Amino acid sequence: MKKKTEQLNDKMDKLISLAKRRGFIFQSSEIYGGFGAYDYGPLGVELKNNIKKAWWKLFVTDRSDMFGLDASILMNPKVWEASGHLKNFSDPLVDCKKCRKRFRADHLLELNSAEPKHEKEKISELPQTCPECGGELTAARNFNLMLKTFIGPVEDEGAVCYLRPETAGGIFTNFKNVLNSMRARVPFGIGQIGKAFRNEITTENWIYRTREFEQMEIEYFINSKDWKKKFEEWLELMKKWCEFLGIKKENLVLHEIEDKDRAFYSKRTVDFEYKYPFGTKELYGLAYRTDYDLSQHQKFSGEDLNYTDPVTGEKFLPHVIEPSLGVDRTILPVLLEAYSEVEARSGEDDAKHEKEVVLKLPYELAPIKVAILPLSKKEPLGEIAHKIEMDLRRNLVVQYDETGSIGKRYRRQDEIGTPFCVTVDFDSVADKKVTVRDRDSMSQDRILISELRNYLNNKLIR
Ligand code: GAP
Repeated sequence: MKKKTEQLNDKMDKLISLAKRRGFIFQSSEIYGGFGAYDYGPLGVELKNNIKKAWWKLFVTDRSDMFGLDASILMNPKVWEASGHLKNFSDPLVDCKKCRKRFRADHLLELNSAEPKHEKEKISELPQTCPECGGELTAARNFNLMLKTFIGPVEDEGAVCYLRPETAGGIFTNFKNVLNSMRARVPFGIGQIGKAFRNEITTENWIYRTREFEQMEIEYFINSKDWKKKFEEWLELMKKWCEFLGIKKENLVLHEIEDKDRAFYSKRTVDFEYKYPFGTKELYGLAYRTDYDLSQHQKFSGEDLNYTDPVTGEKFLPHVIEPSLGVDRTILPVLLEAYSEVEARSGEDDAKHEKEVVLKLPYELAPIKVAILPLSKKEPLGEIAHKIEMDLRRNLVVQYDETGSIGKRYRRQDEIGTPFCVTVDFDSVADKKVTVRDRDSMSQDRILISELRNYLNNKLIR
């Protein structure tokens, strides 16, 4: 019998292999030996877009108190001076004097435990020897995570700028623009999805920690007296989001960050942690950041960022609640929760195997919604099937597959999480009906072609 941790690592290996084989996630620059980064393939990009679309709907367009934004990645470096990133955004780093490997000091503390260590500064507990070769480790020193670049033809200090380390900066600097252009009233929030870059010392665990990643962030501006109530509201919405993603309650840990481990300006932070196969680690964060951000930007820019309540006349600097979510960090639990191996589904397949993979993705997230499978390449089945394909493509992502036995074609679709397969057979010519097979129940319904689009849309679009 394999131990639970071995089974989980097996699952991770199988998932990584499936993701590559079926076009979800490839190693970046693979033909040049990789780069510690990942590219989303044809199915991966659909999955990722579906996640972003669902987040945007739930967190932004479903709400009357939210506005969207798409700010620049390259911003005035003063933004990062004001936010404190240039001075403080660093991780403690140690080197092995023998093998020259580099580690994050706080990660070394986690090596013997699956639990995350929130007390980054527990440097006194650090092991003295390299976990890889046993060599002596250097003392810990701070390493800034900002990715630097240059604007213009001369690479001097005056031309330095940074790839944003979080999307939040663009939201704070546009606070007044959104407030005025949208005639917004506090409380209101601004949501943004976009790339962020960090010069991580080590990238790890596939897409878990990378140097280039996407965030879905909200800065929600409030009157400080409302913070407790508003914090609870965002906490509930984030839990609802995790449920929507298919994350089981027992795999989610809400970690209330203790006073001594929080940033000095934050009065409450809750980390959403997920029980990954490689340990319980951060998935998302929710923080009450007081008025730290707007007061810093007010100070550094010289702009008055105060808000005057039009009803009470009260003038104040809004406080902020920040739900911050990683897109790539979302994809990992979504795939892990959806991945399942089931006993061979007898009667549907001619292949000899015991286990089959079904990716039980929520319908909204499945990259392909419907597969069209003509039983034979011969006419008139092809013509009927292509007509159905074109009709469904009007609003659904469809895949057409005419090769291999029908059992094999079902297996292919189950493996990538396609909720419905439509089989066109010889009876379809006379009765104008097709068979719709459900991924999870494997039930089969005979549906009139003229009603197929409605039938599928009713099931898929909630
Ligand atoms: N504005 C707050 C902020 O950026 P953070 O905890 O540093 O907070 C927010 O990042 C989220 O971004 C994390 O909870 C995680 O989901 C994602 N994230 C952070 N660093 C990442 C990395 N190196 N690779 C992938 N995702 C990352």
